[in-house]
Amino acid sequence: MDKDLGKKNAAEEAARYVEDGMTVGIGTGSTAAFFIDCLKDRIAQGWRLRGVPTSEDSRIKAEHAGVEIIVPDETTRIDIAIDGTDEADPALNLIKGGGGALLREKIVAAAAERFIVIADKSKRVATLGAFALPIEIEPFGWSLTVRAIRDRLSDLKFPSAELVLRAQNSAPILSDGGHFIVDCALGRIDGPSALDAAMRDIPGVIETGLFCGLADIAIFGDEDGVSIAEPSKF
Ligand code: 5RP
Repeated sequence: MDKDLGKKNAAEEAARYVEDGMTVGIGTGSTAAFFIDCLKDRIAQGWRLRGVPTSEDSRIKAEHAGVEIIVPDETTRIDIAIDGTDEADPALNLIKGGGGALLREKIVAAAAERFIVIADKSKRVATLGAFALPIEIEPFGWSLTVRAIRDRLSDLKFPSAELVLRAQNSAPILSDGGHFIVDCALGRIDGPSALDAAMRDIPGVIETGLFCGLADIAIFGDEDGVSIAEPSKF
């Protein structure tokens, strides 16, 4: 499959949900970048769009596209948020954070009136977990937090979980918020919502890449077009 074409098709379909004058939550990653291109086309046609980007990278791209960047305050209404994902299950629970923007992405997705996920169809999975779960943690005492995560995962029957601090040239990579990210290879996640709560309960854990019950629809693209999925209830 041509994944880029799948991402582009999904992004173009998602752009149909955006209307002139809206405030848009703008995701992060290569699929979100295709979506920003679509916003640029709309703005060239005379539309006015305000945006809340979920990363510095997307802020720069959106600014170049002509989106009016806003820093949200308590009165801000985010009409729609559109973002990529690393995995999506049939209930539209997601693993996100491959690009390290999970914290801001989750804040924006949770605040938006509508949250639409866009992805090439390879991201659609029966059960989450093949993609390592990113967990954002406070740098202070980070190795104690990693130990606590490992212990909790063992209690939760993930005894062979592999935890890796995200790093480049041996230096930890910082998120836009100045935090570390630990990638947790778990293999299979049967109860994502419970796992999310258990991880966020650990002091030092700031956020996880599990997005449960947030997505309203997902648009999956391939070379031939798109399919639209709603969360299946079971
Ligand atoms: C960034 C994310 C991205 O949405 C996710 O990693 C998917 O990226 P891409 O669209 O490049 O496949 O969660 O934190």
